[in-house]
Amino acid sequence: MEFSNLKTHISEGILTLTISRPEKLNALNQQTMDELNSCFDWIYSNSEIKGVIITGEGEKAFVAGADISEFLQMNGEIGRELSQKGQDLFFKIENCPKPVIAAVNGFALGGGCELALACHIRIASENAIFAQPEINLGIIPGYGGTQRLTSLIGKGRAIELMLTSDKIDAATAFSMGLANHIYSLSDLLLKCKELMRKIIEKPPVAISMVINAANNAGSAEGYPIEVKNFSKCTGTEDFREGVTAFLEKRKGVFIGK
Ligand code: COA
Repeated sequence: MEFSNLKTHISEGILTLTISRPEKLNALNQQTMDELNSCFDWIYSNSEIKGVIITGEGEKAFVAGADISEFLQMNGEIGRELSQKGQDLFFKIENCPKPVIAAVNGFALGGGCELALACHIRIASENAIFAQPEINLGIIPGYGGTQRLTSLIGKGRAIELMLTSDKIDAATAFSMGLANHIYSLSDLLLKCKELMRKIIEKPPVAISMVINAANNAGSAEGYPIEVKNFSKCTGTEDFREGVTAFLEKRKGVFIGK
């Protein structure tokens, strides 16, 4: 697909999705948000794509936040619409049945940190910087950040970050569980692809059922959803194949059904 502010490249079933407004440190303006929305519709429906890696263009930023230059026209009503639209998009990313890795290659600020939080896994480069600096503009994270950051790193740490706007480096993000791994900038995409290759070898229905169940962790429905998803897996041909392959001491070959 062709976009103005996104670059897409598919190789070995892995879509590398690069947010590309380097002159604005890849800030998410409305056009980029709309393009991300269309791109994820395409990701959902394209059977060639087995997993997605999201990164930012250049060596400085993943995404430096929502585009602040679009903020001056905002009022209460426009603010509500903007936040709802951002939440809907980031839910679409979080609920994607295919694994989504954020390759955080620099600043992940505000909406950029929220985008990383909506991905299933975050991998940071050594120069990555995370922050929720919205408070400095008199607003709060509005694309799901207050919820996802809190559930990922705990309420005390999340509230401190959101109230101070403190920037944290990759090592601190790693120690808080915000980043799963840290690599040099030159190795980042390579390592993300290596991890993605390992994941997408697994049975696709089970992959999507893990994501769905984990997305519901902490809600009252989480445990019943686990039962439903386990049951769905046991109805697949891939389940038969996985068990048979184990018993026959060979590697399973999965078809996604
Ligand atoms: N929205 C719009 N434009 C942004 C932006 C954002 N969130 N973040 C950076 N940019 C633009 C800058 O305005 C600048 O554009 P210009 O060259 O036309 O003036 C360009 O990107 C480069 O940024 P600059 O500030 O010159 O780089 P820097 O290295 O001095 O600082 C940051 C980098 C990330 C620390 C700084 O740009 C920043 O604080 N950005 C805003 C982060 C933020 O508050 N995000 C949350 C928004 S809710």
